[in-house]
Amino acid sequence: MATRMLEIFRLTIKNENGLFFATYSKKAVKSPLFWMILVYSIFTVFLIRAMHEEDPMEVPYPPAQINFRTSRKYISSNYASSSRLGNHLFELASVLSISRELQRVPTFFIENCYHEKMWEDSNTLIPGLMNHFLIINGSVPSSVKRVKFHQKCCTFDDPSLLDNYEDEYLHLTGTHYQSWKYFSHMRNELIGYLKTTENTYMDLPKSGENTFITCVHVRRGDFLRVGFHVADENFIRSSLNLISRQVAKRANTATVFFGDDYEFMDSLRNRTSKINAFVSQNSPADDLLYAKSNCDVVLITAAHSTFGWWMGYFSKGNRVYYTDIQFTKDWILETGEFISEDYYLPHWTPLKYAGSDNFTVIQSFK
Ligand SMILES: *[C@@H]1O[C@H](CO)[C@@H](O)[C@H](O)[C@H]1NC(C)=O
Ligand SMILES: *[C@@H]1O[C@H](CO)[C@@H](O)[C@H](O)[C@H]1NC(C)=O
Ligand SMILES: *[C@@H]1O[C@H](CO)[C@@H](O)[C@H](O)[C@H]1NC(C)=O
Repeated sequence: MATRMLEIFRLTIKNENGLFFATYSKKAVKSPLFWMILVYSIFTVFLIRAMHEEDPMEVPYPPAQINFRTSRKYISSNYASSSRLGNHLFELASVLSISRELQRVPTFFIENCYHEKMWEDSNTLIPGLMNHFLIINGSVPSSVKRVKFHQKCCTFDDPSLLDNYEDEYLHLTGTHYQSWKYFSHMRNELIGYLKTTENTYMDLPKSGENTFITCVHVRRGDFLRVGFHVADENFIRSSLNLISRQVAKRANTATVFFGDDYEFMDSLRNRTSKINAFVSQNSPADDLLYAKSNCDVVLITAAHSTFGWWMGYFSKGNRVYYTDIQFTKDWILETGEFISEDYYLPHWTPLKYAGSDNFTVIQSFK
């Protein structure tokens, strides 16, 4: 249709024969195709406009008023604030740790509505972490020094690279900070900052002397759309078999599924129900708090789910299995921004299929 439209335009512009132009136009106007094309074009123009229109949540707040010569030094960072909880935690834990290394005050500029939400969501889950930050409502003013740091999502940059800056305020341009190396040795401290939940998890089993709980995180929805790896049902079931052979046994075992695709998880639960399986329907924050008290082992099925990562990191048992991303077609690998050793903890166990035509899951040795 677009080609047809172009043809008409070309004819109208190029043709110098007035008579021909007039007849052609008349014909065109009478043709239903002409009107179809017209409506279609107007619709397209509106659609393109709408797509380019700014997200109101992203409209920057006015620049913050900040004081200079305060005798302290500050550090802040850019954040992928429209992302979710798992990403927030990486960014906030990393910036806190970097601020300590540089002896600067960790500072959080509320730059737009997404930052406002990021702050609220993080504060709901882990108030103790947020309490360390100096909160300033407003965009980072132009008087603040911007520094390039951490340009790749999932790698570690040494913060000592920032030692030589004397500026009172430093604002890092990086986002994501997806590496445990930024906050190694902070696991107990971070767990201590989690809030105590009021949720009694009536529908879910509790870990205890006689009950061993395997937690499975499943991420599908948006990951399927953007080309991040998601595990299929066979991979998950085979991984669970391996885990149940390797981990300590207690009289009772239960499996709990967490994630964003209820139907998929419910069908998994249905087929593994002989071993006592459940699907959580709690909020993401409550799922992480459940993991802290009840997950003896965690399986992260979508190789690069940051939420799954935190579920493993906070988990009671601190025993984590994950899909080895090197054996997936995850799109992040092509970007070169992902280093497995920086992203996954050394004591976690990677899993993969035994072979290209053997769909038994085995441990993947590093
Ligand atoms: C921050 O300032 C904006 C206006 O610039 C206001 O709408 C918002 O409520 C403020 N947020 C906080 C947490 O004070
Ligand atoms: C679960 O299993 C029952 C019977 O075994 C079946 O009727 C039901 O449709 C299954 N549900 C799902 C979501 O697979
Ligand atoms: C697939 O791999 C597993 C684990 O290495 C092995 O035990 C099994 O025999 C293999 N199956 C086939 C059909 O090769």
